[in-house]
Amino acid sequence: MEIIKTIPDMQKRANELRNEGKRIGLVPTMGALHEGHISLFKIARPLCDVLITSIFVNPTQFGENEDLEIYPRDFEGDEKKCKSAGVDIIFYPSTDEMYPEGYTTFVEVKGLSEIMCGRTRPNHFRGVATVVAKLFNIVKPHLSVFGNKDYQQAVIIEKMVEDLNFDVEIIRAPIVRESDGLAMSSRNAYLKDDERRQALYIYRALKRAEEIIKGGERDIDVIIEEIRETIESNSDMKIDYIEIRDAGNLGELEVLEGEILISIACFVGEKTRLIDNITLRV
Ligand code: PAF
Repeated sequence: MEIIKTIPDMQKRANELRNEGKRIGLVPTMGALHEGHISLFKIARPLCDVLITSIFVNPTQFGENEDLEIYPRDFEGDEKKCKSAGVDIIFYPSTDEMYPEGYTTFVEVKGLSEIMCGRTRPNHFRGVATVVAKLFNIVKPHLSVFGNKDYQQAVIIEKMVEDLNFDVEIIRAPIVRESDGLAMSSRNAYLKDDERRQALYIYRALKRAEEIIKGGERDIDVIIEEIRETIESNSDMKIDYIEIRDAGNLGELEVLEGEILISIACFVGEKTRLIDNITLRV
């Protein structure tokens, strides 16, 4: 497994691979790899000849009072996990390499970046779109895999690829959960025992919503209220949002029908913000 740290070296390697006719798959990550990331590697592996992952804690997608400084970092552990998952190259740039002094260019996917998580994290998706666009230009992948845990992020990346004509196939991967239902996330590492117990109610509330929809409930306000009630009566978590939207374009719904996304964001404990979602065909 190779580790490449500079942009010119990565671009040179990507060009060599492309000239050899190799199909490049990219899984972009911020490291602190867990089973969720490993599942992305597993999906990408048979679809490409060379599997590349990027490990970069991207400062432009963190807000001023967010967890950039304490975001978990474990390159040695990540390296071992990548090796056993069959990753061929880790692209591991420094912040200065990605954003040298004088850096001024950003990618904004209007509209989609301003709803849901974008309300609480105003510049978050601008940072995500920018770094992913840069990674596509550096790693030159034929395909790239994104998890549905960050559902809004995946929709935004697909829109960016469409609007900016990136020649990259985006592949979406299902959410990976712990045995008790908690969606895997690097931020779960922040949770104390009692916070982790509370966090389980995010998924339980989503399952409750699924249950009442399957039982015939179609009133969006009633479903949202049921989710709120499930969370608030079982935890001290502060709900950031509960949204039910069109799963394809994240549009608002007048009536509950088609492929729908139910998405929740909650603050648990001091600062940990967790997100989770399910999709359903109604
Ligand atoms: O999902 C993530 O880990 C990040 O948002 C990404 C896509 C690697 C961009 O920094």
